[in-house]
Amino acid sequence: MTEPAPHRFKWRYVLALFVAFAAALFAGIANNGTYNPSVQEYYTSLESRLGYWLLLGNTRHCGLYPQGQLWPFPVGKAQRAMEDYLFTRLDLKPGSRILDAGAGSGYVAMRMAEKGLTVEAVDITPLHVEDAHRNIKARGLQDKISVRLGDYHNLTDFDDGSFDGIYTMETFVHADDPLKVLQNFYRLLRPGGVLVQNEADFNRNSELLQDVLRLSHCQNTLEEGVLMGMLEQVGFKDVQLDDLTEEVLPLWRLFGVIGYIPYRILRVFGLHTRFTNLMAGVESYLHWGEGRYISVRAIKP
Ligand SMILES: C[S@@+](CC[C@H](N)C(=O)[O-])C[C@H]1O[C@@H](n2cnc3c(N)ncnc32)[C@H](O)[C@@H]1O
Repeated sequence: MTEPAPHRFKWRYVLALFVAFAAALFAGIANNGTYNPSVQEYYTSLESRLGYWLLLGNTRHCGLYPQGQLWPFPVGKAQRAMEDYLFTRLDLKPGSRILDAGAGSGYVAMRMAEKGLTVEAVDITPLHVEDAHRNIKARGLQDKISVRLGDYHNLTDFDDGSFDGIYTMETFVHADDPLKVLQNFYRLLRPGGVLVQNEADFNRNSELLQDVLRLSHCQNTLEEGVLMGMLEQVGFKDVQLDDLTEEVLPLWRLFGVIGYIPYRILRVFGLHTRFTNLMAGVESYLHWGEGRYISVRAIKP
């Protein structure tokens, strides 16, 4: 009788499993790279969810660093610094009523509430609103913040002149009709009320950046300098701008550095447009200096 062949470990099975896992992960994360997603589609894609969770702890805004700093960690500390900067710019008394337009998971609103402001928050992405409700409850801030699903193009639920302050933190880039949104903010502010917007000023020179803007539903982003003019057109006065491009660079450098090699590999295969956030991180870093990160402050007379 012949002996059965000894059991040999087959590396090719491991390799096959690895390839299958990578392919499944790829298929799950990649978007189709060609269409114009809605804001909600962009934010609920697996790539967005994983990226914002892993890199930014679901706080979807830049950190503020001292000029010239290279090291981006701890990211959370820099993000708190950006929120504190926003609070200082609002310059409102405790108890003032403010609107957070495009609140995401509620982290900025929670910081404002912890500093004594009363916050109404709206966001258009149901997933973010649910997340914000959970976070606010966990911190016991339900009596200071109210969050609802809503679109800042349509803020009819709120009374004219009912806010002391309004802010946007990295969301106005998604506006389909920026002028209409600014008119809404103007209507909702009381005379003397303040608007602060921390946003990107874009440059569309690069075709790849145009793809990034399309794929992240930032199709009507304003060219550099246009926001200031629009605010004046709507009736705001004392419009003042801080250029924070250098102060947000460490985080974008991090995105550019960690994403560079995977992005290059994907580009070889023509698959880069399927990974919007990876592409945004690397391309924005490669085109650094062609756009700006600004904080604009304006007063309703
Ligand atoms: C980059 S995230 C910023 C979130 C938050 N401000 C922060 O700093 O963490 C942009 C947010 O704006 C929201 N958004 C985009 N368009 C909106 C609209 N028309 N109305 C309300 N929210 C909107 C998105 O759902 C997303 O949560």
